[in-house]
Amino acid sequence: MCGIVGYVGPKVDGRALEVIMEGLARLEYRGYDSAGVALVAGDHVVTTKRAGKLANLIRALALEPLPESNTAIGHTRWATHGAPTDENAHPHRGGQDGKLALIHNGIIENFHALRSALIDDGVVFLSETDTEVVAQLLARSYDKIGDLTEAMRQVVAELKGAFTLLAVHADEPGVVVGARRNSPLVVGIGDGETFLGSDVAAFIGSTREALELDQDQIVTITAQGASIINFDGTPGVGKAYHVDWNAAAAEKGGFPNFMAKEIHDQPHAVADTLLGRTNESGALVLDELRMDEAELRAIDKIVIIACGTAAYAGMVAKYAIEHWTRIPCEVDLAHEFRYRDPVVNERTLVVAISQSGETMDTLMAVKHARLLGARVIAICNTHGSTIPRESDAVLYTHAGPEIAVASTKAFLAQITACYILGLYLAQLRGGTYADEAQSVMKDLCEMPAKIQTVLDGLDRVREIARFMVDTRSVLFLGRHVGYPVALEGALKLKELAYIHAEGFAAGELKHGPIALIEAGQPVFVIVPSPSSEHGLHDKVVSGIQEIRARGARTIVIAEEGDEDVVPFADVVIRVPVTPTLLAPLVTTVPLQVFACELAWAKGLDVDQPRNLAKSVTVE
Ligand code: M6R
Repeated sequence: MCGIVGYVGPKVDGRALEVIMEGLARLEYRGYDSAGVALVAGDHVVTTKRAGKLANLIRALALEPLPESNTAIGHTRWATHGAPTDENAHPHRGGQDGKLALIHNGIIENFHALRSALIDDGVVFLSETDTEVVAQLLARSYDKIGDLTEAMRQVVAELKGAFTLLAVHADEPGVVVGARRNSPLVVGIGDGETFLGSDVAAFIGSTREALELDQDQIVTITAQGASIINFDGTPGVGKAYHVDWNAAAAEKGGFPNFMAKEIHDQPHAVADTLLGRTNESGALVLDELRMDEAELRAIDKIVIIACGTAAYAGMVAKYAIEHWTRIPCEVDLAHEFRYRDPVVNERTLVVAISQSGETMDTLMAVKHARLLGARVIAICNTHGSTIPRESDAVLYTHAGPEIAVASTKAFLAQITACYILGLYLAQLRGGTYADEAQSVMKDLCEMPAKIQTVLDGLDRVREIARFMVDTRSVLFLGRHVGYPVALEGALKLKELAYIHAEGFAAGELKHGPIALIEAGQPVFVIVPSPSSEHGLHDKVVSGIQEIRARGARTIVIAEEGDEDVVPFADVVIRVPVTPTLLAPLVTTVPLQVFACELAWAKGLDVDQPRNLAKSVTVE
């Protein structure tokens, strides 16, 4: 939530505004309620900020251009404190002379008390934000100390909550100071220029060399580089890394929106996540996990924690991991986990799934799990993010940058990483599925081609989506691993097309949801493979007959060659023959395309749906 960019370049080139605007464009997916910039120009700081999307700020800057500068900060906001207005947009000024400007991501939990004290001292506030309180505190501190880094250090000691802060001061041109606690901030190291960003997308157009900051650190950038101290004043170090994707990966590549592009990236996302996981003899090797094998063998319970789409990936994982390892596996929404007094101890393996690696609910659940003694593995798509750093080990997905707010390729990559983890545990612990791990890996390696086959045959899905623009409610039914797929299909439609949608376990139908069926009600049904165990396929086909008899319009996702569904389906969408546990990698794709196309046909902003932000960095 909220995108943050900072830049200091050579004195002569004055391209700070250009860099900041490019960074904001790449970070807009993090929040799009308002946007603003502040530049240090001469002996003063100038700001422009506008409510609404970045386009409004661009228009304002075109009408009233800002002076050239080599030092700037920029912000794109997801509103927490105060409505999305010009006044509440960041940057916020501090001090009576307005020489300081500050931007912020996160929530200052004690801002009421701080604000009241400042008001008592005669400070007049121009916004309703918690951020302006910090700007005023920092300006005061600067006036006393005359050093922006030290002033920042003193102010963060007074703050409670999660925050990334960036500040500039007119008396320190060529300097941007940042601070982070439980909120993302990375440094980009260029040639004679230095960047700060909520994530590397902010500066990927200029450099792929980055520095990861630790928790509770302050970073001061100049054109020559970055220096880091800890909140306690001791020297800090950053971890240098090379970003393994380039600016092209964060562009639309000819697609009408990022979501469509990312849906089409999925064969690569899955293939790249599978890459390098086996040795010459076909055995799984997870070197990056760096976790003691004896400890993993001793695990007697797995708890998966995640939110939203990542939690649905966890639900798919539960079926696979329990089947292959026989270790009991629970899935918890991260925000529920902490508050339900979970039974977790040293023999529990907690798996935290997060695309961004910054979701606050998941981060807090990770910390809670570790306090209870559990070992935590993060499954994450973002290098340098907080959740992997706060975990004992990490398994990276290699989906590349996911820009659209709705998660697509990250979902398939998360499921893939969970399969890898499950198979690795099975191999490690021996037993029935240890021998099968290699053959399942072979099946998995065939999945990218199968996903491509699905993508190549979705014209009918697009047609139905366009036909259904006025639909007010859609239901999704699935069973076994098809159940989380149904939930994911419904979530995609809700968040993108603002249509009421519900996903149900198909077996639940007769326990209530069937009452929703009336003439013309569209229902997507994800049908298990006819080869799946326990006769699940036939049971779901019976369910289709029952809803059809009550007037439902059935859109059935079924395997190639499954003719049983044909008499009861208004539309059949085919997916390749796939082992049951791996089927979500293909059955999810038509649902993503359906939601994307329907939202697009309604003229909605597919990449930036209302009220949402890509990474939810507040609780
Ligand atoms: O970055 P994370 O994977 O932790 O994000 C979790 C959810 O916020 C995310 O999956 C969300 O549900 C998506 N908007 C769904 O498309």
